[in-house]
Amino acid sequence: MEARTEDVEVTVSAPSRAGREDFKATSDPALEESADRGKAKLLGYTELYELWERQQWATQDLDFSQDKIDWHERIPEEERFQRMYGLSSFFIGEQKVADELGPMMRAAPEETQRIFLATQIADEARHVRFFDCFYGQVGVLDGADDLAARLKATEEHTNEAFHELFDDLLKSRVDRLANEPGDIDTLVEAITLYHMVIEGMLALSGQHFIIDYNTTQKTLPGFVEGFSNVARDEHRHIAFGVRFITDMVNTDDRFRGVIQGMLEEAVPVADRVIDPPWDEEDDSDLFGVSREETHAFAAQCLSRRLKVIGLF
Ligand SMILES: [Fe+2]
Ligand SMILES: [Fe+2]
Repeated sequence: MEARTEDVEVTVSAPSRAGREDFKATSDPALEESADRGKAKLLGYTELYELWERQQWATQDLDFSQDKIDWHERIPEEERFQRMYGLSSFFIGEQKVADELGPMMRAAPEETQRIFLATQIADEARHVRFFDCFYGQVGVLDGADDLAARLKATEEHTNEAFHELFDDLLKSRVDRLANEPGDIDTLVEAITLYHMVIEGMLALSGQHFIIDYNTTQKTLPGFVEGFSNVARDEHRHIAFGVRFITDMVNTDDRFRGVIQGMLEEAVPVADRVIDPPWDEEDDSDLFGVSREETHAFAAQCLSRRLKVIGLF
């Protein structure tokens, strides 16, 4: 598997929030340097469920009043557009993963796995609500008054690779699982794609940089609070994925090939999702990091998790 970041010299600096204790409590290997040596202690499915019970939060508790002032009065128009582009992929992405998880939950072979995945469906629904509240209360989009209208408007800001990843690669596997819940190879592919690539490489890398950027710029405090909760949830979801894939590989070595094949297909597409459609020279230093830094951080997160699974 080729991650394009291997060609470039980039120092990977860990985002400041990666050291948070509540993030580390999830056992996501990407947060542990020891994972570079293939060492990490992963939580079991019931422990991950219990952690979910302890890590609850509510979109209704977030206050976006300062965010509204920042968005309309403090953030310049060109930067506002680029920020909206970046956030749109997250908004739509949350809606798509919330919609696709049901058949994957049903196909999981063990009850403890299904119970954890049921909590993840609730999380993904809350993430959609979080974006809907932020967009609605801050007034990010003119004339889009409800969730359906906001999703339609934000969809315009996603690129072709984004659709390839969600609407072709993921949806085709989930559709197969809906018809054939006993198809374990497809479930392993779907979890590799969903938890390792979409959540692990794409969502979390972007989330950390967006949170760090807003924190240093002292902008969008309500958004930062909510998005940090989303990131913590994602670490827990990815920890489930790493655990599941590790267990499957330990059960049958043949799954290594299934996972490898999925990564080879999906990682180049995911790498293209990271890049916005405008020329790189027009980047207004989007979220304070270069495209190379984002690619490098995403690749490091993936490789740490793969080492712990024993795939590297
Ligand atoms: Fe999510
Ligand atoms: Fe998630």
